[in-house]
Amino acid sequence: MSATLTPLTDLPAWKDLSAHAAALQSTTLRDLFAQDPTRGTRLHATAGDLYLDYSKHRITDETLAIFAQLAEQSNLRASTEAMFTGQKINITEGRAVLHTALRAPADSVVLVDGENVIPGVHAVLDKMAAFADSIRSGTWLGYTGKRIRNIVNIGIGGSDLGPVMAYEALKHYSQRDLTFRFVSNVDGTDFAEAVHDLDPEETLFIVASKTFTTLETMANAHTARVWSLAKLQHQAAVARHFVAVSTNAGEVAKFGIDTANMFGFWDWVGGRYSMDSAIGLSTMVALGPDNFRKMLAGFHTMDVHFRTAPWGQNLPFLMGALGLWYTNFFGAETVAVLPYDQYLKRFPAYLQQLTMESNGKHITIDGRHVTYNTGAIFWGEPGTNGQHSFYQLIHQGTRLIPCDIIAFAQSLNPLGQHHDLLMSNVFAQAEALAFGKTADQVRAEGTPEWLIPHRTFEGNRPTSTILAEKMTPEVLGQLVALYEHATFVQGILWQIDSFDQWGVELGKKLAVQIIPELESATEPTLNHDSSTNTLIRRYRALKRK
Ligand code: F6P
Repeated sequence: MSATLTPLTDLPAWKDLSAHAAALQSTTLRDLFAQDPTRGTRLHATAGDLYLDYSKHRITDETLAIFAQLAEQSNLRASTEAMFTGQKINITEGRAVLHTALRAPADSVVLVDGENVIPGVHAVLDKMAAFADSIRSGTWLGYTGKRIRNIVNIGIGGSDLGPVMAYEALKHYSQRDLTFRFVSNVDGTDFAEAVHDLDPEETLFIVASKTFTTLETMANAHTARVWSLAKLQHQAAVARHFVAVSTNAGEVAKFGIDTANMFGFWDWVGGRYSMDSAIGLSTMVALGPDNFRKMLAGFHTMDVHFRTAPWGQNLPFLMGALGLWYTNFFGAETVAVLPYDQYLKRFPAYLQQLTMESNGKHITIDGRHVTYNTGAIFWGEPGTNGQHSFYQLIHQGTRLIPCDIIAFAQSLNPLGQHHDLLMSNVFAQAEALAFGKTADQVRAEGTPEWLIPHRTFEGNRPTSTILAEKMTPEVLGQLVALYEHATFVQGILWQIDSFDQWGVELGKKLAVQIIPELESATEPTLNHDSSTNTLIRRYRALKRK
């Protein structure tokens, strides 16, 4: 257990933030922009290729100054160094947290238990690169001598969401004569639909699981082996059609995958922080080793920025602090992530695991129950689709929903006027959310009096706008690292362990207990609550029909 901390709410800066927030409650974004015409040019920060406009937030210079004090009083700098230097900051699992080592240059030194982990990281990257090249060039052949044309990643959580998000985000850079599919759900439909048009002779499975014991992944991997061998007939075919990504060589061998075809990583890489480890093997096969390394370089750019930039110019700090501001002082429950880029369609889903599995905690690292809200609910859809669905609630509903808008100046698919049409919506939505439309403006348009309240927009809805030149592997790395570190900032300020996930255990254990109750030929004795017992009995009756 960690040493006792001064509770967050007892820190002087927290008290100052409470008083400051109370004073600001009735100040609107209209007021703030009217008071300071330079606000829109001043309140921005850059890191790598990312430009963050945070002027449309209900903050003043004083807000950020107090947050900087909170960072000092929370020892954020020391905690950041502790993470980067391999101290065991994941205290409930006794582990270092070193996803930053996965993208550190080859000449870096990062010690875990006295051993420099960097050479191992680069050895795995080299092994991944050789494998990726052999698939991409067609020198890795299937058991019957055919080229591999389909790559199916089997994994779940961090072993799926990062790979599928990165593949979709960087599809433009992928080798188009290869087909990529991602199977995660234990629902057989996921596997069946993923392979329905694939030929086992040309299909390679990457079984990605840190533990290699996850029920969903193991069920899908076994089904994949049956599907492969139904056509390929010989056990020896497994070696040509299955590779593994895992920290657990023993379980990989038990499954029947030659550990020569295993790509390793380490217990200091959390599942939701693993897309730049060997878990990214499918990404590397799709993009090629050079692009993968560019993505890693992008991550590293943000790592260096986060570690060194002053708080007032530090993108992850600013985004982390803004999240706390609305969660703890304005009653916001959620954050909407709105990428105006179709390639980022899986980015909100990826961020859900990153942020919510990290910061969905109510016990502090010194064992107290928190007295404030932690991790916000992240959700979102690409613009402009969301505009025709849920934006109504953001504009005129009763809840405050801070939004992260992500956009690129250049399209990877320039088609006529499309990109300007898309970008006009980026700027229009942020403007409308911030400034709305007053009753007087609506009246001046000749709107009947009774309709005016319905057509009035209060505005005062905060947004961050993140703008980059275009989507590249480097930019994706920067973007993901930005959110990783913003999540870390929040975890430190909230005094929670952002790197464990005990909350997922109970349901997994109960499911294992229930499986035989669903499958037994005779009516089982059920010892659950009356609701669960009734549902199980009904399921058994219905499935027999
Ligand atoms: O559901 C919890 C979890 O442990 C995630 O943290 C993790 O990303 C996922 O399961 C998959 O785990 P593994 O890679 O070990 O199969």
